[in-house]
Amino acid sequence: MTSVRAGIGRILIGKQLLPRTGKRCQALALSGQCALISDSNVMSLFAERVKRSLLSAGFRPTLITIPAGEKSKTLKQAAVICDRMIAAGLDRQSFVIGLGGGMIGDISGFVAAIYHRGIPHVQIPTTLLAMVDSSIGGKTGVDTRAGKNLIGAFHQPSLVIDDLDVLKTLPRRQFNQGFAEIIKHAVIGDVKMFEKLKAAHASGPAAAAETLALQQLIRRNIEFKSRIVSKDERDRTGERTLLNFGHTVGHAIECAGNYQKFLHGEAVSLGIVAACTISIKKAGLPRDQRDAIVDVLRRFDLPTRLPGNFPRNKIFDAVKFDKKFEGGKVRFVVTPRIGTAHVADDVTFDDIREAINAL
Ligand SMILES: NC(=O)c1ccc[n+]([C@@H]2O[C@H](COP(=O)([O-])OP(=O)(O)OC[C@H]3O[C@@H](n4cnc5c(N)ncnc54)[C@H](O)[C@@H]3O)[C@@H](O)[C@H]2O)c1
Ligand SMILES: [Zn+2]
Repeated sequence: MTSVRAGIGRILIGKQLLPRTGKRCQALALSGQCALISDSNVMSLFAERVKRSLLSAGFRPTLITIPAGEKSKTLKQAAVICDRMIAAGLDRQSFVIGLGGGMIGDISGFVAAIYHRGIPHVQIPTTLLAMVDSSIGGKTGVDTRAGKNLIGAFHQPSLVIDDLDVLKTLPRRQFNQGFAEIIKHAVIGDVKMFEKLKAAHASGPAAAAETLALQQLIRRNIEFKSRIVSKDERDRTGERTLLNFGHTVGHAIECAGNYQKFLHGEAVSLGIVAACTISIKKAGLPRDQRDAIVDVLRRFDLPTRLPGNFPRNKIFDAVKFDKKFEGGKVRFVVTPRIGTAHVADDVTFDDIREAINAL
């Protein structure tokens, strides 16, 4: 097992960690009641192990299951969870454990942020995306009809437990989408990691979870994101903006596909390709470096071209809705060469349209 300090808490990475949840919570001086929040897929896979560990350490867990899928990440569902916690008698001394992917991490963190004005949050991420991205940085929240993550709070987890064993049941497509964020991290700030990814290939969750290399890769990504977040905890000074590389177009593609056609990481993969096209034009990214990035995305079975019949107009509309173009220009994260990134303020809507048309 290895561990990383992040914000106010600690992130543990290793195998066979679920049965140690209780002891780890004890070590934080937590006690008494907790809510163990999960989704309908993950609860039946892993909750029993976590519950047993909590009980044997003297905790009194209340299990709360919500339906799997992004459609559960709502204010209404957060209220249902809070009501269940009130009914079970959880108080200011209690804490919340989120067991699941990014959806559960976000909503359980939001509930922890608002319950009795804030109680401790423990995250047990069960997707690769949640381990390398959503469980780091303290952003919690829910979606509304007008958009994703519009309501939320900053609330740093006290503890994150990344047990690699849980990845074995993750569907391959879900596993691969985590690599879009990993590749993003490499492109914007870690050229050595990019070189490592060039040599890797999609071995799938079961095989990859067996290898120590995955543990090191997850650790490297956690350290990378934590470093950026620590410079700009509240997303105010611009450091965190670099993490949006590939996301302006990625979000628009997700939205144009009604959040069904592409998983988040798949849309980000396409967004990264578009950001590379713009980076060639506006930041001097060499063409062979763009090709190397596209090649690495393909290695993890991530999409790098849009289907011919995809409604591109809907992507343009979503970009316009999402971003404020001032004087026809928008702030956009570009990479001049692999391992570095900055915000350009001279990217026009036409640049973005051109890049999307080339997808
Ligand atoms: N807070 C942040 O900084 C941040 C960053 C990135 C993404 N996010 C959020 O994360 C969410 C996406 O996260 P996600 O991709 O993990 O989605 P998810 O939580 O919806 O999980 C994806 C699917 O995999 C299933 N699953 C999870 N773990 C499993 C396992 N071990 N075995 C089998 N099935 C499993 C889930 O039940 C679900 O059906 C979005 O809501 C996004 O907004 C937040
Ligand atoms: Zn993302």
